[in-house]
Amino acid sequence: MSAPEPKPWIMAIAPYIPGRSTTDDGRKVAKLSSNENPLGTSPKAREAFLSAASRLERYPDASGTELRDVLADKHGLDPARIIYGNGSDEVLHLAAGAFAGPGDEVIFVKYGFAVYEIAARRVGAVPVIAPDHDYATDVDAILACVTERTKLVYIANPNNPTGTYATKEEIARLHAGLRPDILLVLDHAYAEYIEGDAEDGGMALAETAPNVLVTRTFSKMYGLAAERIGWGYASPAIIEAMHRIRLPFSITIAGTAAAIAALGDTEFVEHTRAHNAKWRAWFSQEIAQLGNAGLRAVPSQANFVLVLFEGKLTAEAAYKGLMDAGYIVRWLPGQGLPHGLRITVGTEDETRGVATALRAMVEKAG
Ligand SMILES: Cc1ncc(COP(=O)(O)O)c(C=O)c1O
Repeated sequence: MSAPEPKPWIMAIAPYIPGRSTTDDGRKVAKLSSNENPLGTSPKAREAFLSAASRLERYPDASGTELRDVLADKHGLDPARIIYGNGSDEVLHLAAGAFAGPGDEVIFVKYGFAVYEIAARRVGAVPVIAPDHDYATDVDAILACVTERTKLVYIANPNNPTGTYATKEEIARLHAGLRPDILLVLDHAYAEYIEGDAEDGGMALAETAPNVLVTRTFSKMYGLAAERIGWGYASPAIIEAMHRIRLPFSITIAGTAAAIAALGDTEFVEHTRAHNAKWRAWFSQEIAQLGNAGLRAVPSQANFVLVLFEGKLTAEAAYKGLMDAGYIVRWLPGQGLPHGLRITVGTEDETRGVATALRAMVEKAG
C-alpha cells in the first residue's frame, strides 16, 4: 500500500542534535553543552515571567508590539522593522522560507551553526559550504562560492561552534562583494559577548542596506533559553515578507514579559558579560598551558571555547573523561570536528573543574 512520501529534500536533513544534559548512565552533571547562561536568569525577568501566570487563557499579542517597542528603544531602531520568533532559530528559518526555494543556493561556513543547513534543505535549497581559514570565517572563500543561484548567506558572528569573530571591515567587505539580490543574514546570537566595544557593524548595515537581516536572541546573555524569544532587524520589505509565513503566536506572554524585564536589567547583563570575559580568558590560558600535549583553544569571542585535541589525548577520550568527572560538553564529530570539544564557559567552579579534569587526563595520557 502506498503511504504519504516526505519530500526528498526533507529526508536529506540530518536532524539537529541538541546539547546533552545527562550522561550515558543517566547521571545529572554540569551542563556545558548548549552555551546557556551559567549565572541563571535575571531575577527581574523571573518575576515578570511568574506574574504572567494570571493571563494564561489569553492569546499573546500577535504583533509583539510591546516587545518591539522596548527593543527599538533600547537599540535605537525602528520598531516596524523588528520581527520576532520562537527563538532566533525561527527567524533564521523564516529567512530561508521567504527568500530561498528549490534549486536556490544557500551559503554558510564549514564549521557553522547546524540550523543553517536544516533551514536551507527544508525549503528545497542547496546548501553550499564555504571553507574556513583556521576555523574562522573566510570572506574570500564565501565570495568564491557565490553563483547566479545564490539567494542567501548565513554568517554567525561570533560563530558557533568555533567562537571566532569576523571584524567590521571583513563583514563590510563581504557585504560589498555580494549582489544586492542576495540576502546576508548576520546571526548575532553571541554578539553581547564580544570583548570591549567591538561590533561587526551588522545593525548599521541592516538599517541602511536592503539585503541584510540581523538576528538576535534572549537565550544566551539574557538567560532565557527556555522561553524561546529571538528577533531580527532588516529592511521593511524583508520583514514584511517574513511576517507572511511566521506562526501568528510564536512567542508566549510569559516569555515576552520575561524578555522585556531582562532587557531592563543591565546589572545582570553586565555581571554576565564580565563573568564570561574573565573565565573565557582564564580557561583559554589554561588550555594554552597544555599546548605541549597538543591542546589548542580557538580564540573565542563567545560564551564557549572550542578546544582542539591534536596530541595523545583525543577529543573523544576527553569528552568521556569529562563526563565521568561530572561535566557534559559538546563533541562534534557530526560537524566535521571529531578532534574538537566545544565547552561552554560555566560558573567559576565548573570552569576550574573542567580545566583540572583536562589537566589530569593530559598527564595520564603521557
Ligand atoms: C549561532 C546561533 N544562532 C542561533 C541560535 C539559536 O538560538 P535561539 O533559537 O535560542 O535564539 C544558536 C543557539 O545555540 C546559535 O548558536
